[in-house]
Order: sequence, then structure tokens, then C-alpha cells
Amino acid sequence: MKWISFIVVLGFYGLTAQAAPVDEYLGQLASEAKRDDPSFSGFDAKRGKKIFTSTHVGKRGKRISCRSCHGKNLQADGENIFTGKHIKALSPKANPKRLSKIKKMKKWLRRNFKDVYNRDGTAREKGDVLLYIMSK
Ligand code: HEC
Repeated sequence: MKWISFIVVLGFYGLTAQAAPVDEYLGQLASEAKRDDPSFSGFDAKRGKKIFTSTHVGKRGKRISCRSCHGKNLQADGENIFTGKHIKALSPKANPKRLSKIKKMKKWLRRNFKDVYNRDGTAREKGDVLLYIMSK
């Protein structure tokens, strides 16, 4: 009986002590960024803001930014400028499902950097922009 409760307590501790997926992903990106540039000293939401708000000639030669689809207010819903599809708010403060799955973050950061920048984002850029999104 005692052993069972000990195991239950351990299991519970294990669950609560686990890092949130976004923190785990940021950790992976940080080691990658450090590998790319040994002088890397951490992500920065200010750099992330620039990545998110600046416009570039992107998909189909259109001048767009991340805001073109996700909007100026990340706590409000957006709309895909190419398909017209509704996009739920990107801020995890307004939408708790956001940044809760590493697979989804990777997939969409890859696609969305291609849309706006016509290339993949670097590990540092991805970490910076995630920090910015979390701050909004
Ligand atoms: C052409 C429209 C479009 C543009 C431009 C765009 N996004 Fe997205 N983004 C989407 C769509 C569509 C989804 C996936 C649908 C959803 O989750 O609502 C998404 C999902 C995401 C997610 C996943 C969030 C999660 O739930 O984990 C992140 C992060 C993200 N976008 C960041 C960015 C960043 C950073 C940029 C600029 C480099 C950007 N987006 C530009 C349309 C866009």
C-alpha cells in the first residue's frame, strides 16, 4: 500500500515537474543557436517583435509580415490572407492551446517563415519570435 502511494506521488511529481512544451522547444532552439553562434547569449522578444512585424516580399510576391495573417493584436483572431480562413488568436494568454505542441510549433514556423521570408528561420529567429508571441 505504502509503495503504491509512493509511486503515485512520484508519478505526479514527474508530471508537474515536466517543462511546458514551449520551454522544452526553446531549450532545443537555444542549444541549436549556440551551435550556430557560440556568442549566442539568449533569446530576445525585441528582436522577435521585428521579425514578427516587419514586411518582406514573401509568398506569391506579396509584401507581407507575420501580422498579415495573425493581425496586430495577437489576443484577437486573424485571417489567412491567401485562403480567407479564420485563424484563432496566436497569443497563449488568449488561447491556451497555443504553443502547447512542439510538432505544431515546428510545422508552422517552418511554413510561415517560408511564407514571409522565403526561407527557413534560424534557431535564434524562431526562439526570438516565440518569446515575442508569449509576451503578447
Ligand atoms: C499566410 C498566413 C500566415 C502568415 C503570413 C503567418 N502565419 Fe502563422 N499560422 C498561420 C496558420 C494558418 C496557422 C495554423 C492554423 C492555426 O493554428 O490556427 C499558423 C500557426 C502559427 C503558429 C503555431 C501556433 C501554435 O498553435 O503552436 C505559430 C507559432 C505561428 N503561426 C507564427 C508565425 C510567425 C512567426 C509568422 C511570421 C514569420 C507567421 N506565423 C506568419 C498563418 C500564417
